[in-house]
Amino acid sequence: MLVLADPTLLRNALYIDGAWERPPGTDELPVTNPATGAELARLPQASREDTIEAIEAAQSAFPAWAALPARERSKLLKAWHDLIVANVDDLARILTAEQGKPLPEARGEILYGAAFFEWYAEEAKRVYGETIPAPKADQRLIVLRQPIGVCAAITPWNFPMAMIPRKAAPALAAGCTMVLKPASATPLSALALAELADRAGIPGGVFNVVPGRAGIVGDELATNPIVRKLTFTGSTEVGRELMAKASGTIKKISLELGGNAPVLVFDDADVGVAVQGALASKFRNMGQTCVCANRIYAQAGIYDEFVERFAEAVAALKVGDGFDESVQQGPLIDEAAVLKTEEHLRDAVARGARIVTGGGRHSLGGTYFQPTVVAGAIGDMLVAREETFGPLAPVFRFETEEEAVRMANDTEYGLAAYFFTRDNARIWRVGEALEFGVIGINTGITSFEGAPFGGLKASGIGREGSHLGIDEFLEIKYMCVAEICPVKVSEK
Ligand code: SIN
Repeated sequence: MLVLADPTLLRNALYIDGAWERPPGTDELPVTNPATGAELARLPQASREDTIEAIEAAQSAFPAWAALPARERSKLLKAWHDLIVANVDDLARILTAEQGKPLPEARGEILYGAAFFEWYAEEAKRVYGETIPAPKADQRLIVLRQPIGVCAAITPWNFPMAMIPRKAAPALAAGCTMVLKPASATPLSALALAELADRAGIPGGVFNVVPGRAGIVGDELATNPIVRKLTFTGSTEVGRELMAKASGTIKKISLELGGNAPVLVFDDADVGVAVQGALASKFRNMGQTCVCANRIYAQAGIYDEFVERFAEAVAALKVGDGFDESVQQGPLIDEAAVLKTEEHLRDAVARGARIVTGGGRHSLGGTYFQPTVVAGAIGDMLVAREETFGPLAPVFRFETEEEAVRMANDTEYGLAAYFFTRDNARIWRVGEALEFGVIGINTGITSFEGAPFGGLKASGIGREGSHLGIDEFLEIKYMCVAEICPVKVSEK
């Protein structure tokens, strides 16, 4: 049983128009702990009608929320931030219970998520417009930036406590209202955040949560004409489908999709720094992040040393139930994640890769997987082409910088890339040549609320975080005012 200091954070209902609803007769889905398989809650699944009700609540709430002075919206977002921080331990327990990540990592994610509310509480006050020098003396040209309206967000299971704030904070700061469909594996995090929104005083209808099936809730959010903006984080495959559906009503969209992140370790790198960076990037959340290292390329001169030291660090990672504070790697989210990691490993070995550490399911059973390193990876393996989204690190060998950059860019994805070098000229050369939206240099962790996050190519559209993130929720309006103060040039 999940024990919380404040058990009322554990909600199992829909949150619509500031009220908790358990519509009678709806089907329910169990939420389970991936570490134990234990059922944590049974959640009603929103129907199409429930989703429409939430969209209409967001529509009704929009005019008053948009009209609220930015300073007032800012105070409410700051209050939401403060409540998240004050409840970090309970929220971490909810997150670890439904997602599996170790408690210290869960706490880190919650504070990272809360930081988006703090950041955008400030940005709410800085949505500036523009004036443009007019072509005629009696005209004034003005550009307004106004909230787009009702927004829909569809969020993933890997960072529920960070990806929801990364979307909700800029949306609400801009003056938009939101309907959220959280991932079916991790709805309790979303509902706990909604409970805190309510306590913070966010008015009913401004933030609504409708857990449910993608084919029903997701479909309604993507096609409903009231929804003017759709923001999604998840796979490229689903992003493509949502983009096609949203095209019917010409919604503004932002998509944070899959990645296939390369890590390049050059001969001139500090190998110790590269090992720690690759470890942090690859094994964060058990390899289940869109920015996780997927392909590690080490240059010939340091290849053997890197593989040996990296494998040693990976072998030392402690695997177990995330509620044990000393654990560094929890279970994978579900059996499908294990099967994909196994498939990539089997394929790599069949094509000649050598297992250096790990090598399969963990003796703990369930969805635990051994953190694994394989050496001798080559370009035609599945691990080179597809995102594994699991704790398998393949190490490829390269000879020249040109070859490394070509191999790194040889993917349809363009979310994150990393490289390790002590050569300043190379930092600029390689940084500019890599076709990715986020680049870590001599580090495996780049995430920060004040920096823009997003991908190129099949990794998505738009940016989240930073001062740029709020633009995704704003419309530009140009006003041309004529006859404003006719200038009588002849009278001068
Ligand atoms: C993601 O994997 O989508 C998010 C990772 C991050 O924000 O660091």
